[in-house]
Amino acid sequence: MQHIKLINIVGARPQIIKASAISRAIKQNFSEKITEIIVHTGQHYDKELSDIFFSELEINQPDYNLSVGSARHGRQTSMMITGIEEVLLKEKPDCVLLYGDTNSTLAGALSASKLHFPVIHIEAGMRSFNKSMPEELNRIISDHSSTLLFAPTNAAFKNLIREGFRPENSPPYNVDNPKIYLCGDIMYDNTLFFADLAERKKASFLEKLSLERNNFILTTIHREINTDDISRLEAILSTLRSLSEEYSVNFVMPLHPRTTISLKSNLKLMYDDLLKCRYIKILPPVSFLEMTLLEKNSKLIITDSGGVQKESHFFTRPCLVLRKETEWIELVTNGTAVLVDADPTIIKKEFERFFKSPVNLDYPGFYGDGKTAEFILNEIMMMFDKV
Ligand code: UD1
Ligand code: UDP
Repeated sequence: MQHIKLINIVGARPQIIKASAISRAIKQNFSEKITEIIVHTGQHYDKELSDIFFSELEINQPDYNLSVGSARHGRQTSMMITGIEEVLLKEKPDCVLLYGDTNSTLAGALSASKLHFPVIHIEAGMRSFNKSMPEELNRIISDHSSTLLFAPTNAAFKNLIREGFRPENSPPYNVDNPKIYLCGDIMYDNTLFFADLAERKKASFLEKLSLERNNFILTTIHREINTDDISRLEAILSTLRSLSEEYSVNFVMPLHPRTTISLKSNLKLMYDDLLKCRYIKILPPVSFLEMTLLEKNSKLIITDSGGVQKESHFFTRPCLVLRKETEWIELVTNGTAVLVDADPTIIKKEFERFFKSPVNLDYPGFYGDGKTAEFILNEIMMMFDKV
């Protein structure tokens, strides 16, 4: 039987998590047809941001780790391009799979498209319409270097059409004649697969943290705009701190190292104070199963993360988004998510609206049927006409 060789490029935490849905589907249904090679750029390298996901989500260890590490955008991306180019020239894959909108995605898109390897972009079409955020440029450039584009939502699909992509294109596909799909979200595949497992495997985790089910707030903060703009970080954390005391409710905060580093170097007094607060529980980043358990059992989620916004919907938890805009616009239209920026008055008002009494919300299935990874792999095989 003929094989295709597919290179999966990952680098940051959410990409490793997303790639696990594809890896699992390859193992389950395509192992005779697809050889998967994993390239880790090394953008994330701390155990809690990288290794833990490979072991917990049972992904094969990377075939290549470029160990690029942290650096300014240009330097980091250029080192990734150099490393990925070498791997591509050596491996000569049939296609290259990219996820989301990080610098690792951008580097993969540029390296592969310049060498004429077909790029397949998963989570295509997401737009914040704010080009000052690094991810927005990464998304646009990656989409416009791709041959197959898998949009997770209606809004993303429409964004692609607005930028000139044509749903009616017919094969053979290439970067000048790309194919766009509306396909659902592989993160939903993961949540369906791991939610019960998280309850079984991490049963004691909530107890260890002295958390009562449905009676704590889960918070994550990591976006450049919130970690590097100190006044925003200070406004957010002082508001959450005072809400935790006013309502005697626990706030659990698994913090990205970027946030902890910024707090330690710019807001040391506040950081020391937060560590002593009765209702604030600052943690290092947690594993995916632990995070799943926290999300599933929280009362409300406050975050600037893209992935966590969606997971709040999967677990029917309302979400306050610490940004001015979001790519997951259907969540805002639906009322699942509310944009609160870093504004203390809006954060407090929306927190109280959800905290004081239950708000009746529907949680429609915006993100597919949980079999998005299979759909994507089938379409990839069709492109090579080897189904
Ligand atoms: C990156 C992505 C962002 C994504 C996030 C997921 C870009 C431009 N940004 O942001 O879209 O939402 O990943 O988590 O690609 N650091 C560590 N240990 C690590 C990795 C990073 O301490 O293992 C610290 C370093 O101080 C580093 C900083 O975090 O400078 C930022 O890391 P970087 O990978 O550049 O961006 P993220 O903020 O993680
Ligand atoms: N996540 C995790 N542990 C944490 C924080 C987040 O496993 O401590 C998971 C979360 O459940 C989601 C993904 O990481 O699946 C989101 O990644 P992140 O917030 O870093 O990036 P974004 O989605 O904003 O790009």
